[in-house]
Amino acid sequence: MIFYFSATGNSKHVARSIADANGDEILYMPELLDSGSMSFDVSGEKMLGFVSPTYYWGLPSVVKKFLENIKITFRERPYTFFVATYGTKNGCISQSAERILSRKGIAIDAFYEVRMPDSWTPVFDLTDETNVQRRVKVADEKIEEVKTQISSRTKGSFMSDCIPEFISNMFHDMYDKARLTENLMVEDQCAGCGTCAGNCPVHAIMMENGRPRWILDRCVMCLGCLHRCPNFAIQYGGKTKDHGQYMNPHCIGDCAEYD
Ligand SMILES: Cc1cc2nc3c(=O)[nH]c(=O)nc-3n(C[C@H](O)[C@H](O)[C@H](O)COP(=O)(O)O)c2cc1C
Ligand code: SF4
Ligand code: SF4
Repeated sequence: MIFYFSATGNSKHVARSIADANGDEILYMPELLDSGSMSFDVSGEKMLGFVSPTYYWGLPSVVKKFLENIKITFRERPYTFFVATYGTKNGCISQSAERILSRKGIAIDAFYEVRMPDSWTPVFDLTDETNVQRRVKVADEKIEEVKTQISSRTKGSFMSDCIPEFISNMFHDMYDKARLTENLMVEDQCAGCGTCAGNCPVHAIMMENGRPRWILDRCVMCLGCLHRCPNFAIQYGGKTKDHGQYMNPHCIGDCAEYD
């Protein structure tokens, strides 16, 4: 049983690759939060996994909420792992996940990281296709390595791109302050298709007169709406238009979580 959150497919690809190699299933955290079905008896499961992107050197708020609310019971805990995907540095994401789950009596046997193209396009430019493809290829090799470690039930922390917690926490504190949808805007080429609203993991978009309107406070800043828009009509601040859209190539055509 592998729980994941993903906006642009990187973490979904990791979760699915591990699940496929082990005949396991993946479950989308926002959908479970929506359904209120948050109790899981993992007795007899092959493994218990959590896969998440890194936001501001820590956990995305939707993942934090999920981990805080999940109820897990077992007779014997299956091998448990956490995988962080990230673009540059993953800060203290593993400690944050470990702390939340340990309060529920769930220990994590292994922590892994997979570096991916960075979906934070207000800063990172993903228009160089060759570079993106190269990074996806390197990530795919890393996923193979992680799969092998998971298959052999390796224990330990395999995180190397961390930042000390006291520094990470200062940066992560800025995430909540920055989670304001006023930076998101829609341009004239919007065709009113509703893809953005339909796939927002936290329902922070309402369609009004055929155009998206963001609901302040709900947004978790995943940028899924920006990257999924078929007309690239959503921007975040002044730089994203020049930095392109991104979806993990393994998930193209399969990135709509709510269809
Ligand atoms: C709001 C936001 C904040 C991010 N912060 C970080 C970060 O602090 N460090 C990092 O290495 N990558 C950061 N990223 C990049 C993502 O963690 C990375 O691209 C991840 O693989 C995306 O996963 P997904 O495709 O499953 O959504 C950020 C992305 C977003 C949207
Ligand atoms: S996905 Fe793009 S084109 Fe479709 S409604 Fe949203 S902004 Fe408009
Ligand atoms: S409004 Fe866009 S950026 Fe905000 S949570 Fe929804 S899909 Fe993500």
